[in-house]
Amino acid sequence: MTSPITTRREGDVLVVLSNNPPVNALGAAVRQGLDKAIDEAAADDGIKAVVIACEGQTFFAGADITEFGKMMAEPSLPVLVDKIEASEKPVIAAIHGTALGGGLEVALAAHYRIAVPSAKFGLPEVKLGILPGAGGTQRLPRVAGVEVALEMATKGDPIPATKAKDAGLLDRVTDGDLLTDAIAFAREVADARPLPRTSEAPVTLDPAVVEAFRKTNARRFRGLDAPNEIIEVIETTAGKPYAEGVQRERMGFMKLVMGKQSAALRHIFFAERKASKIDDLPEGTQPREIKRVGVIGAGTMGGGISMNFLSAGIPVMIVEMQQDALDRGTGVMRKNYEATAAKGRMTAEQVEGAMGLLKPTLSLDDLADCDLIIEAVYESMDVKKDIFGKLDTIAKPGAILASNTSYLNIDEIAAATNRPQDVLGLHFFSPANVMKLLEVVRGAKTAPDALMTAMAVAKKIKKVAVVAGVCHGFIGNRMLMPRQVEAMNLLLEGATPEQVDRVHVAFGMPMGPFQMADLAGVDIGWHRDPTRIESIRDALAAEERWGQKKGKGFYDYDEKRQPSNSPRVAEIIEDFRQKTGTPQHEVTEDEITERTLYTMVNEGARILEEGMAQRASDIDVVWIYGYGFPPYKGGPMFWADQEGLPKIVAGLEKHGFEVAKLLRDKAEKGEKFN
Ligand code: 3HC
Repeated sequence: MTSPITTRREGDVLVVLSNNPPVNALGAAVRQGLDKAIDEAAADDGIKAVVIACEGQTFFAGADITEFGKMMAEPSLPVLVDKIEASEKPVIAAIHGTALGGGLEVALAAHYRIAVPSAKFGLPEVKLGILPGAGGTQRLPRVAGVEVALEMATKGDPIPATKAKDAGLLDRVTDGDLLTDAIAFAREVADARPLPRTSEAPVTLDPAVVEAFRKTNARRFRGLDAPNEIIEVIETTAGKPYAEGVQRERMGFMKLVMGKQSAALRHIFFAERKASKIDDLPEGTQPREIKRVGVIGAGTMGGGISMNFLSAGIPVMIVEMQQDALDRGTGVMRKNYEATAAKGRMTAEQVEGAMGLLKPTLSLDDLADCDLIIEAVYESMDVKKDIFGKLDTIAKPGAILASNTSYLNIDEIAAATNRPQDVLGLHFFSPANVMKLLEVVRGAKTAPDALMTAMAVAKKIKKVAVVAGVCHGFIGNRMLMPRQVEAMNLLLEGATPEQVDRVHVAFGMPMGPFQMADLAGVDIGWHRDPTRIESIRDALAAEERWGQKKGKGFYDYDEKRQPSNSPRVAEIIEDFRQKTGTPQHEVTEDEITERTLYTMVNEGARILEEGMAQRASDIDVVWIYGYGFPPYKGGPMFWADQEGLPKIVAGLEKHGFEVAKLLRDKAEKGEKFN
């Protein structure tokens, strides 16, 4: 097998090049090649310096994540980076793309670092539930100080070259040819001694800085093993010799990499990438070109959807029925952009650039030129059919016609046109310009290239897309339904809204079912007849307890929107209990978990059984990116695997639920979903 590492002499400089697509991950063959290259330089008297660089799109983007949990082939990354630093001949890292994780650790072990202006630097290990395990927690504080190291290692976000240079991570930034300039740099420093070895630099620690950092980020890091461990490693090893520090780092790494949170986060890393792949598309299918987008409806959803395209530089024609609604909608979009600019995340020119791509209109006929048209009006099958019927006569041939429906049957909508092959669902999540999830609903007649186009468009607007089949609520909302039903039943049987929500928040969800109902609006989907009271929800809606927007819902809210338990809601629940003759019992936390979370897993199993999702990991992606399921639990199906499927089955049976066949089969065979 040929090595991904090649070496060549440029006079007295040894150029070491890695070619391990797609991201030059530091797998065994790369490590072995680098190890040999360092030996080669040491053994050759004609060589005075070494340049390490990468071919392809990026410098080393980290350790090879697929190797985690397996036997690590020699040399390990920690051993390799120490060997690089110990080289008697200067080593220069020449960086383009992203120097991430182990990649940054290799760069920090080199004696000098040079990069192009577009390069990015980061320690994203924390996002995989681990810590930088090849000296990163030791070398970064020595190079950039404790504060920068804490920020980069616990949050995992990359920084640009300018910032890296200011922080001391880089010796040079070059606009010229990277390799040429790196070789020239190598010649300049070839004889300079002593060699700057990062591990020998001192670290000064101000305990107040660490304390303040802990305090500021306490909420963000709640329940997360990795960031807390990283802070502890950096804090307790500062001031100690490097050798002692890396030993502590190693201990922390091993503990985290064997833990449940890391397994879950690594699962999600690969699940997110797998979700974009559609297993049964004919080979050679090509996406259609999308140059212009039309959006029907300038409400909250339509506006948010449009912003995704505008931000990606794609012109949008937005349609409303009335001028005032159109003005209101575009006004909200501008305000949202301006708020982003006020936070420094956009420039005034970018705001104008995005808004300049927006063309408001009152006529559907103006959509004739669009390559993709997304309908985002309210949930009524009749209205949608009417719109799609009209679009059929207006849209140009080959245009993709999409509905943003959250529940309705895409096949029925498609049947209102003579081109069902061009129709699909694009279910965005609110706020649509923020939430990363996009459910792409594949109708019975959706053409392969139309589906592929939707996936490509999703990537362009930075969404994580998951393919769903046609069923009520698709993947996410369909699984939400049994949870909502059970949450309501629990109230009747003796639980309080606060008790149910508390279990969900403790589980790691951003909010519980009743907090969510109050935020979204208790009146959503209500029949609007205050005399017709058939559920607790109807009773609340009839009293205008519509949630946060009314200052009251399942909870009472003060002026600062702080919730408190509502005596009136307790009365309404009691009233209903008596009316329905529901017997009460003491509801435990376990029962809440079993009835509201296990039932979701059960529904997920049915979705898989019916082929409405391609794979269990797609369901996990939906819940993490669409509903705030805690990533460190890996999504509902992965979580169920970790809990043990027999336990889930037993929990469901205890409460008399019908267990999905797939779930039961897997539990009996000792299999898992993922
Ligand atoms: N190991 C193994 N495979 C990796 C990988 C890694 N570190 N990084 C990316 N890949 C794979 C992806 O799974 C994907 O595979 P696929 O084509 O089969 O789906 C392929 O490379 C391309 O990845 P992306 O689709 O993510 O490509 P992008 O161009 O969108 O993004 C990137 C590139 C920014 C480098 C992004 O891939 C990324 O963030 N990678 C992970 C970086 C990371 O977490 N590094 C730290 C690793 S842990 C570590 O270093 C431990 C050390 O401290 C000991």
